[in-house]
Amino acid sequence: MMDANEVRSAFTGYFAERGHTVLPSASLIPHDPSVLFTIAGMVPFKPYFLGDEPAPWKRATTVQKCFRTLDIDVVGTTERHCTFFEMLGNFSFGDYFKSEAIPFAWEFVTEVLGIDGDRLWVTVHDSDDEAEEIWADAVGLDRSRIQRMGEDNFWKMGETGPCGPSSEIYFDRGEQAGAAGGPARGGAERFVEIWNLVFMQYNRLANGDIEDLPRRSIDTGAGLERILPVLQGVGSLFATDVMAPVLATAEEATGHRYGVDRHVDVALRILTDHARAMAMLVSDGVLPSNEGRGYVLRRVIRRAVLRAHQLGVHELVTARMVGSVASVLGTAYPKLVEDLDLVKATVEREEGHFLRTLQSGSAILDQELAGVDGVLPGEVAFRLHDTYGFPVELTVELARDAGAEVDMEGFEIAMSSQRHRAREAARNARKAAGDDTYRAVIESAGPSRFVGYEDYQCATSVVAVLAGGDPHDVELVLGVTPFYAESGGQVGDTGVITTETGRAEVTDTFNALPGLIVHRARVSGEIHVGQDALAVIDATRREATRRNHTGTHLLHAALRMVLGDHVRQQGSLVAPDRLRFDFSHHAAVRTEELDEILRIANSDVLSDARVNVTEAARADAEAMGALAFFGDKYGEVVRVVEAGSHSRELCGGTHVDALGMIGPIAVLSESSIGSGTRRIEATTGEASLELLGRRSRSIVEASRLLRVEPAGVIEALDRLIAEKRESDKELAKLRAGRVDDLVTGLVSAADAGAVVARRDGLSSDELRALAKAAIATGGLRAVVIAGTPDGSRAALAVAASSPLDAQEVARALAGLLGGGGGGSRELAISGGRNVAGIDEALAEAARLVQGR
Ligand code: SER
Repeated sequence: MMDANEVRSAFTGYFAERGHTVLPSASLIPHDPSVLFTIAGMVPFKPYFLGDEPAPWKRATTVQKCFRTLDIDVVGTTERHCTFFEMLGNFSFGDYFKSEAIPFAWEFVTEVLGIDGDRLWVTVHDSDDEAEEIWADAVGLDRSRIQRMGEDNFWKMGETGPCGPSSEIYFDRGEQAGAAGGPARGGAERFVEIWNLVFMQYNRLANGDIEDLPRRSIDTGAGLERILPVLQGVGSLFATDVMAPVLATAEEATGHRYGVDRHVDVALRILTDHARAMAMLVSDGVLPSNEGRGYVLRRVIRRAVLRAHQLGVHELVTARMVGSVASVLGTAYPKLVEDLDLVKATVEREEGHFLRTLQSGSAILDQELAGVDGVLPGEVAFRLHDTYGFPVELTVELARDAGAEVDMEGFEIAMSSQRHRAREAARNARKAAGDDTYRAVIESAGPSRFVGYEDYQCATSVVAVLAGGDPHDVELVLGVTPFYAESGGQVGDTGVITTETGRAEVTDTFNALPGLIVHRARVSGEIHVGQDALAVIDATRREATRRNHTGTHLLHAALRMVLGDHVRQQGSLVAPDRLRFDFSHHAAVRTEELDEILRIANSDVLSDARVNVTEAARADAEAMGALAFFGDKYGEVVRVVEAGSHSRELCGGTHVDALGMIGPIAVLSESSIGSGTRRIEATTGEASLELLGRRSRSIVEASRLLRVEPAGVIEALDRLIAEKRESDKELAKLRAGRVDDLVTGLVSAADAGAVVARRDGLSSDELRALAKAAIATGGLRAVVIAGTPDGSRAALAVAASSPLDAQEVARALAGLLGGGGGGSRELAISGGRNVAGIDEALAEAARLVQGR
């Protein structure tokens, strides 16, 4: 019987032998912002599937920690659902596709794991004839055990991202577990999915469109927690070696036995599952909090604690539970053992908090519930959540126990106004002092005077020094300042302010109130109110920033000219190193369009037109056709910035004097950021020179490697790709020729109308092809070929013509090879780990098919 550690290493070992790089599990906290947690083995590889980044490996294999909450409400009520799990995966990044991925999966499951092929079923997508053919022909699986499914066999990472049709392997747990009929029609508890092969072909965009991926790839996922019950011959995930010891700890910690009472069992399973999840999440750096990942963790811990509480436990249980998890998973994930003290302290602290919450919250909830008639107002659920940290799901559960519903709509409304308040608070968080303090400054000293459109330095005086906690981290207010305060997407200036007694390094500048410019600074020496000061901005940074700001205006105008007037600015960032511009547009910008946009913007630059800035009354400016997207932000008198012949915008930012100063405008990326909004990132000035230089160096390097002129690189690559395709075909032909020779050899050794032969060094795929080809020559009743592909495993293929049944023969021999097997009446395979049994199996075969 294989334990979890053996399965993990057998899996990665098998794929390593087949050219896959074995990589460690990535964190449960993904880099990818589109998912909250790592929900599948493929998540860390998303950029390689999309072609956003070149894959460093063609093939990779991992055992990936995963966490999903999709079924969290079901967890505990079944023997097979869990939130934290490990996914065994093999991946091809534009390398092999279906015809290799499917036989790999089959061979691993039946030969390495030794699962009986006759108990396996597969499903393919409704549209996927190709996959069905491979299962039937190459693998030799009987068509009656291949079923088609629709949605269920289409895998997507989320609302957006890579996706494609899939094919799944199911294990039949047998009659006692539910209705027959295969995975498509039979019982869900009876046919359990153990392996999912995703044929990554598409990318789903935010607007719902599906586009082809640059290269077709493979993403497979096999749930370790699904495979272990099969291998270990137990009906429940909770009886496997990754769960049973944790469940036993849950029994000890709660003083309840498993398997006696249904409700108690649910609670014990939740405790077990959630203990694994909390241990792994905390060890990966998630901490309980009120939002995002932290909130999910908090919910997991609290759900577990609530169950223990309901079982009448008064002691703290979580630390003990995670300790047990570490003893089970610590070998595979040593970091969990290293972090154990921290993990224990974290979950226990949360548990303590929650128990106190539970006491006060329950009392309040009971009171409220007593006063309502069937529906608990959303406000109350929100207050319990906000003030007492009561997860709303918990309120729903407890309310349900008392026969009441929660007004979820009301709850959502209350939540969203809280989110709004939270955003406001975050915006204000950069201000060390309160609004009242700022107001007092502006009232006594008047608004700051900004001279930075013209001057990069000026003599001034210190109007206010506002200190936060640390006396060296201060906020300075000056009477006159050249520092631009962040606004309209343009970042605030940095620089230096000096007085006779001190020097302040300004790291950021912002408007604390309209008209009040505040410099956040780190002070050495001392700076006092009333001192004369010299204020100097970082001129290089500002120069780069203003290039990008005017560059943004030119791009904006060009975008509207090429894509249409519906293009609206949705947001922008003007920084020294790059500009980012978000705009409304419902399709991807095509290459030709992008070229045209860049051509227009860059020819504006070449015109070297002077940038005219005028002040005008808002109404006059709008009448002149100036673009004003930020409405009333600018007061009654506005600045109109005219840059070349296409661009006229209301803008308070800093701009170049003449367009030539911008230098080349180059695009870093163009992408979708969701719901009809696109994002362009671009560079100007020196950053562009660097970017373009880097790109052209790559071309020159490629041309050197390809031994052609830089202009001929694409043509040379096209040629190379065509040649590769040709030589692949040649290779396939040669391989087929080799099969012909082998077949002739086999057939000439036929005896009593059948062939029984040993051939080592061939994979089970090759043996199968050979048997199939040999029987196809006609006149033979059976062909049995066996051998060891690599000295460590035994493989056998049987082809038969009626009335002989290949499957029966394969099954009769499987035992001698120490494994399982399966197939159809015509073609079947078998295999296992007993290499020493090959000759005996062949002798037995001779007896069966040649009557010896
Ligand atoms: N991504 C697929 C899944 O999660 C296969 O790895 O099932």
